[in-house]
Amino acid sequence: MSLRPVDKSGPPVAADLDAAIVPGVSPQVFNAADFARIAELVHREAGIVLTDQKRMLAYSRLAPLVRKSGAATFGEYLDGAARDAAVETQLIAALTTNHTYFYREPHHFEHFAQSVRPALLAAAEAGRPVRIWSAGCSSGEEIWTLMMVLMGADKAAARSLAARDIVALASDLAGHALSAAETATYPASALAALPDDLVANWTEAASAPDQRRIVQSVRAMVRFRQLNLLHPWPFGGQFDVIFCRNVMIYFDGPTKEQLMAGFARHLRPGGFLYIGHSERVSGLASDLLTLVGPTIYQKVGAP
Ligand SMILES: C[S@@+](CC[C@H](N)C(=O)[O-])C[C@H]1O[C@@H](n2cnc3c(N)ncnc32)[C@H](O)[C@@H]1O
Repeated sequence: MSLRPVDKSGPPVAADLDAAIVPGVSPQVFNAADFARIAELVHREAGIVLTDQKRMLAYSRLAPLVRKSGAATFGEYLDGAARDAAVETQLIAALTTNHTYFYREPHHFEHFAQSVRPALLAAAEAGRPVRIWSAGCSSGEEIWTLMMVLMGADKAAARSLAARDIVALASDLAGHALSAAETATYPASALAALPDDLVANWTEAASAPDQRRIVQSVRAMVRFRQLNLLHPWPFGGQFDVIFCRNVMIYFDGPTKEQLMAGFARHLRPGGFLYIGHSERVSGLASDLLTLVGPTIYQKVGAP
């Protein structure tokens, strides 16, 4: 399955290479053609649309990588990235927006707790595999929130879940974000929005002061994968629940529609897709997904 965007039109290549596009930066170091190459690359490879307003952002995020590479100019660095997939991946990751926080969009977790969790727990107790995916998990706050809500307020009752076949996948394009997610350690203040009993049950003091870590029994349920959503997905199975929130906002329309269709195919009948507050399902996926709450969709068919 290819999820590459069908819209191949990239940003226009600016003709004027003599004008500074970032104040104080020589056009010999960073110019409109360099930005056009960057925008074309992140659009082609990651689906992310960089408008001209993002020139300063591109400069400030990439300048440290350009310096570190030893290249004298952005053009030289981009030539290197074109020859080296690892450099290219790092370049794209540097242009991602990784902003996230615990208990973001609480209505999703409330819906999950009330309308999805009971059936998932019953399925797990009955010996059926339960599969959850946080696609574009960034530094992990989303998947850890979801897992804590799944485990719930009754710690004794949740103990048996550790022995059940419950596996969550947390994926992101950006390796640096994924490493943070896997560490599962956050400032205690970052957990403030979560219900107290979930924090008490499923986090513990970390070695650094004022830091807390997700407990091992919950960490053991989550697998982390570096995955570009535009590339073929390396799994065939279906999920009970997919969260893909605040990822597609950076994509163009055709890319969004292809991704949603992919999510719909990878949901079990009766499974749930949660997307960001400014997003909505359109295209082919609309036939497979029914809106059941604000930015919450259920796959058609009996569970
Ligand atoms: C703003 S964060 C959202 C984090 C979390 N889902 C939330 O709502 O709080 C967007 C994440 O999507 C990831 N991302 C962007 N394009 C991607 C792509 N093509 N494939 C996989 N992840 C991507 C970024 O690396 C970033 O970590």
